[in-house]
Amino acid sequence: PTTDVLTRDVVIVGAGAAGLTAANELRKAGLSVAVLEARDRVGGRLHTDVIDGAMLEVGGQWVSPDQEALIETLEDLGLETYSRYREGDSVYINADGELTRFTGEIFPVPEATEKVIVELIERLDRMVAEIDPDRPWEHPDAEELDRISFERWLADQTDDVEARDNIALFIAGAMLTKPPHAFSTLQALLMAASAGSFSHLVDADFILDKRVVGGLQQVPLLLAERLGADVFLDQPVRRIEWTGGGVTVASDRMTVRARFVILALAPVLYPRISFSPPLPRLQHQMHQHISMGFVIKVHAVYDRPFWREQGLSATAFSPYELCHEAYDNTNHGDERGTLVGFVSDRLADDVFCLSAEERKGRILESLSHYYGPDAKNPVVYYESDWGTEEWTRGAYAASFDLGGLARYGADQREPVGPIHFACSDMAGLGYQHVDGAIRMGRLVATRIVEEARG
Ligand code: FDA
Repeated sequence: PTTDVLTRDVVIVGAGAAGLTAANELRKAGLSVAVLEARDRVGGRLHTDVIDGAMLEVGGQWVSPDQEALIETLEDLGLETYSRYREGDSVYINADGELTRFTGEIFPVPEATEKVIVELIERLDRMVAEIDPDRPWEHPDAEELDRISFERWLADQTDDVEARDNIALFIAGAMLTKPPHAFSTLQALLMAASAGSFSHLVDADFILDKRVVGGLQQVPLLLAERLGADVFLDQPVRRIEWTGGGVTVASDRMTVRARFVILALAPVLYPRISFSPPLPRLQHQMHQHISMGFVIKVHAVYDRPFWREQGLSATAFSPYELCHEAYDNTNHGDERGTLVGFVSDRLADDVFCLSAEERKGRILESLSHYYGPDAKNPVVYYESDWGTEEWTRGAYAASFDLGGLARYGADQREPVGPIHFACSDMAGLGYQHVDGAIRMGRLVATRIVEEARG
């Protein structure tokens, strides 16, 4: 294989939302860039695909009203949004398997449990209001909050198990996609602060508000189009040699010499790259305390959105179901009806021990508990499994283990010589979301432009 050697001001490793945003901002400031992407496509965790004739959002898809950086980008790219279907009743299934239809945000639980849930949400909202999502480690109780798992913290607040299970679900299964014993209370507060408040996480109409007509992967596709021939696919970066004055970045077939490099990949993947000299010990340690959550995103397409005939919005929750949450995910202008459901962490591990047929049967059975037997017969069925993707290794995103956020958080975005870092998984606002990826892309570009001029 021939080795091309290019020279640029900045080389960007990873063509996800963060890397492509940074590359475009740098270009606008007059710097030259090259983006090296491991996969044969751009977008990373954004992937709009057609499977058996159905357009599916294999990765990220929702846009919420607080995600200003993403909304600005959508406007800049001329992309249109539409609202998730939400007419009619939601459904909730309790620990005894009993289904209740409801409207509003609070699940239909016994009155005493509802009171506890409301109190916990208020308490969490007060705590979240004290957290700066860009610097959660600066909270006066940060160390203490980072030592206590979210599960332990909840157990210390109330004996009401159903209240605890529901509050845990909003952060654990639904967001960080790790069990609540595996992340700290500080990490939980960061997740909520990054979306504005804990109440926002409870409000599905807020957090899962809009989708993009034609799919969210158009964001990276259009951003890459603007960069033209400076985006290089099938170029997994293997080696980075660096000095105070610059970097040499090598994939199997290309070498780019530049003044700066941006690592715009999930931080769990940094150790896949060989650095010379090695990264400092702090980074070596820090990167081992970050891990991906894991969730299966399940897509089931039906000849029609049959649940609407029953007066259901399809919004469904249960901490006791295999699919802990599910929604109407029908595409804009589509006659067919699509449901999307999620199977998180331990439950996802369990169903991956089954055959594909058995797994599908178990998952559709769970959906049928919410919507009735028609849910068992989709015309298209697909499981997004990011756990098998070499260049992602989990879903939705990466977070610190117990104690990691207070110990290392402040150093995450600090450059090491010419090496800069950008990813949704180190964002404040928009943490673990596309909005955060765009914010981090902008931030890193601003810093490099300042340094390049300075
Ligand atoms: P991202 O991981 O997207 O990009 C990194 C890129 O680096 C990838 O293209 C990768 O291939 C590449 N790479 C890795 N190693 C490399 C190497 N050595 N050399 C070269 N390239 C390399 N968000 C949201 O806002 N709304 C939502 O509804 C959802 N839902 C959702 C569902 C699912 C199933 C997933 C997996 C994720 C979401 N998210 C989401 C999260 C959202 O998709 C995510 O936060 C951002 O897309 C991450 O963008 P980044 O650019 O930071 O990383």
